[in-house]
Amino acid sequence: MSTALRRAVFVICTLLWLSGCLWLVAHFAFPTPTDFGPGPSPWQPAIMRVHGWLAVGGVFLLGWIAAEHIGDRWHRARNRVSGFSLASLAAVLVVSGYALYYTNDRLHDLAGAVHEVLGGAAIAFALIHWRRNGPSRVGR
Ligand code: HEM
Ligand code: HEM
Repeated sequence: MSTALRRAVFVICTLLWLSGCLWLVAHFAFPTPTDFGPGPSPWQPAIMRVHGWLAVGGVFLLGWIAAEHIGDRWHRARNRVSGFSLASLAAVLVVSGYALYYTNDRLHDLAGAVHEVLGGAAIAFALIHWRRNGPSRVGR
């Protein structure tokens, strides 16, 4: 993997995850009290705007990774299970994330729940795949 791509993956994915987690903290820990019960925190729209911008970069990177990184390693056993788990998780995050724009009612709630739970868990999948396990002979 080229240094530029590796850096871009680490930076964008970390910020994407942090912005999602920050939104969850604002949503669950700092709701605004209203006459009708707890309302959204005033920070949520700004955090989600940043998350949305980062998501565009994340999807762009996924395309780049699919073409370069995954294409090169397709036939090798190393990191295959963690790689495909991470790629599948990313695909579900993309679909459920964009479903939040285009669905309503129960489908919207379902997409939100799937996206929030899998988004939070994504860091574990990423760390397992990215842990250092020897130098690569591909793409360097
Ligand atoms: C490629 C990965 C991802 C993509 C494409 C993506 C995309 C999106 C999009 C489009 C939205 C809706 C934005 C809006 O309503 O303005 C969203 C919401 C959200 N995302 Fe992500 N996201 C990704 C990864 C993550 C990760 C890693 C987390 C970590 C926790 C996360 C947490 C959230 C949360 C909490 C919401 C708000 C959910 C709700 O409204 O119920 N996302 N995401
Ligand atoms: C969303 C999908 C994926 C992302 C974001 C991703 C990202 C990464 C990153 C950042 C590294 C560390 C690279 C380094 O330190 O040079 C890595 C290593 C690796 N990945 Fe992936 N990967 C993904 C999917 C896959 C898949 C599907 C496979 C296998 C078919 C795979 C195979 C490997 C291998 C063999 C390594 C070890 C180091 C190397 O060969 O570069 N990855 N991956």
